[in-house]
This record gives sequence, structure tokens and C-alpha cells, in this order.
Amino acid sequence: MPDILFEFWRTLYFVISPYAANAFPPLVKGKHPIDFGKNFFDGHRILGDGKTWEGLFGGLAFGTFCGTIAWLFYDELNSIALTNNFSLPYISPFSAFILSLGALLGDLLGSFIKRRFGMQRGAPAPFLDQLDFLAGAFLLGSFVTEISLGIVIWAVPMTLIIHRISNIIGYLLKLKKEPW
Ligand code: CTP
Ligand code: MG
Repeated sequence: MPDILFEFWRTLYFVISPYAANAFPPLVKGKHPIDFGKNFFDGHRILGDGKTWEGLFGGLAFGTFCGTIAWLFYDELNSIALTNNFSLPYISPFSAFILSLGALLGDLLGSFIKRRFGMQRGAPAPFLDQLDFLAGAFLLGSFVTEISLGIVIWAVPMTLIIHRISNIIGYLLKLKKEPW
């Protein structure tokens, strides 16, 4: 296997919990906004109706759950990696929880920034929409696990592509109002 693919597999293993944490909220159709419907000083919503408690806690639970499943298979998957002369990043269930939390907080921060620019819920903000959760996961995750530069470099384009594809699918399935 060419070396460049090693980092791809390491990245894929790493992003399981933040991806799961970020993918879950759109499925729960939460009703209780985190900002309790309140406006910020600028007269715009603090976060907006698109950020709910159900999404936050559901995403946290699902991200941690999926990360824990990945952790259960760590030895098996890593031994396959080792026979190819690379190793997978070790993500404990606690680290999976922190990565999920970082992803969800990053997404909240993304919405907070959008609202400050007066953008309505669901208005497209290229790159911010796709990468806010990833940046949050990396930032918070860096406190509990080592994150290689290779993983960051791979994760950004991977996320842009996967985000695009999954949002189109979500839109076609009528899970999302906009295809972004
Ligand atoms: N969602 C949620 N709770 C969260 C995050 C997301 O309930 N903490 C749900 C909402 O139904 C939201 C959908 O997932 O509409 C898609 O999330 P996202 O694209 O991040 O929100 P938008 O509706 O596009 O709002 P924003 O403009 O703030 O990004
Ligand atoms: Mg959005």
C-alpha cells in the first residue's frame, strides 16, 4: 500500500466520533433551541433554531457511542495497520467523548458567527458550515489525544467532499431543507 494511504486510514479512524456527533443532530429534529429563543445584543438570535438541546445531547451520545465501538475494534484494526507498517491513532472512549463535544461546540460557534453576520438559519456559509465541527474537534481533541499534521491535512478535503455528498443525500431524503 502506498504510504499516502496510511494517513488516509488513520484519518478515517480518527474522525469516526466527530463525524457521528455532527451527523446525528439533523436526524433528531430537535424542538428546544439551546439559546432558548433569545437574541444577542445585535438583535439577532444568539444561535438560532437550528441548534437544539436534542441535537447537542443526541450528537454527544452518538459520537461517543460510535467512537467506543471503534475503540472496541482498535486492536484488530491496528494489527492490520501494523502489518502494513503504520499504526492507528488510539482514541479512548473518553477521547471520543471529547472529540464529539469539540465537534458540537465547533458547530455551535459556527452558527454563533453566522448569526453575528446577520445570516439566517440555514443560510450557506462556505467552509464554515463544513469545517466548524472539525476545527472544534481538533481544538478540543488536542487536549486529550495527539493529532498528527497528516490527519489534519487529510481530514479537511475529506470532510469537504463527504459533507457535500451527505448533504445532497440528506436533501434528497428530505432530512435537510438545503443541499448544503
Ligand atoms: N441540529 C440540532 N441541534 C444541533 C445541531 C443541529 O437540532 N446542535 C439540527 C437542526 O435541525 C439543524 C440541522 O441539524 O437545522 C442541520 O444542522 P446545521 O446545518 O448545522 O444547521 P442549520 O439549520 O443550517 O443552521 P445554521 O445556519 O445555524 O448552521
Ligand atoms: Mg447549516
